[in-house]
Amino acid sequence: MADSNGNSKHENGETKIKAKPRIERNRVLVTGGAGFVGSHLCTYLVERGDHVICVDNFFTGSKENVAHLLGKTNFELIRHDVVEKLLLEVDQIYHLACPASPVHYKYNPIKTIKTSFIGTMNMLGLAKRTRARFLLTSTSEVYGDPLEHPQTEGYWGNVNCIGERSCYDEGKRAAECLTFDYQREHNLEVRVVRIFNTYGPHMALDDGRVVSNFVAQALTGQPLTIYGDGQQTRSFQYVSDLVEGMVRVMDGPYTGPFNIGNPTEFTMLELAQVVKEVVNPDAQIVYKENTADDPSRRKPDISKAKKALGWEPKVALREGLSRMVSDFAKRLGVEAPKVPGRA
Ligand SMILES: NC(=O)c1ccc[n+]([C@@H]2O[C@H](COP(=O)([O-])OP(=O)(O)OC[C@H]3O[C@@H](n4cnc5c(N)ncnc54)[C@H](O)[C@@H]3O)[C@@H](O)[C@H]2O)c1
Repeated sequence: MADSNGNSKHENGETKIKAKPRIERNRVLVTGGAGFVGSHLCTYLVERGDHVICVDNFFTGSKENVAHLLGKTNFELIRHDVVEKLLLEVDQIYHLACPASPVHYKYNPIKTIKTSFIGTMNMLGLAKRTRARFLLTSTSEVYGDPLEHPQTEGYWGNVNCIGERSCYDEGKRAAECLTFDYQREHNLEVRVVRIFNTYGPHMALDDGRVVSNFVAQALTGQPLTIYGDGQQTRSFQYVSDLVEGMVRVMDGPYTGPFNIGNPTEFTMLELAQVVKEVVNPDAQIVYKENTADDPSRRKPDISKAKKALGWEPKVALREGLSRMVSDFAKRLGVEAPKVPGRA
């Protein structure tokens, strides 16, 4: 006779425990999962039912970014530096761990290039041991100061290999090289995305990137700082579009590299004007000298991702900015402005 748990006594006196149904879940490692992009990716994967293991050394990321996931049974957080080896059993690896903003990656450039190269090699080693599918988050910075516009994945780039930004740019180029070498040499399933400027909630307030700078300045009543003449262009992608693109690349059949970005171009001056409109119409604009090696134009050609994966960004700049304002206002301890059309 079975008891209320379904366990029964065998005639030899042993209790036979009823097997619990096995829940088949993808075990997904997200390195850098407590950072800006990683925290949104972890949320997406946890919500769709994957078992997510978030690994981070909290250099630029924070526990607060994933605090809403900490009680979930399908989420684990591990403090670990990817420059050190890691032993886990996983089915997929999203490798994001690496500081992404110039202030952070220039803070300790040798550590940045170690994170890019050794960190990526360690995670590829883990993928090789577990036969996990591996996705590298590369960057539009592999194109350097591009001589082709817009940039397709076939463009080899124009990078200054001894400049201040090269710890990041060359680090990512070496990480891409390693990733494809692991595919060629070990037949590993790899995926590569080249991410273009992305913004949204959970960006570090002090990361010096233009969108977070402008939004924080507008919210706190400071002038918006434009470096250079404001005519350099960038394209800005809202973080939910990026997450959707990354997941499609990981789950899809193609290796890439894929450009994942929003091709709509804005000059810095136009961006400042949209931020004024959405956040604080009274904000002033000031101009300062530009930094070294700042690319003058950057715009993705996303036809490859569109054709192969049916992916394209959906969130327009005004909408995306209004979605990130309340998170920034909360963290800055100021009142969020009323965004037109939102409660
Ligand atoms: N956000 C963008 O616009 C953008 C653009 C291009 C590429 N990317 C790439 O996407 C990834 C995520 O970027 P993000 O914007 O979320 O940056 P982020 O700085 O917010 O996140 C990076 C995360 O990696 C962690 N990390 C850094 N070094 C580590 C190490 N050695 N070991 C373990 N964890 C480490 C940080 O603590 C942080 O949580 C990065 O690889 C970045 O190069 C981002």
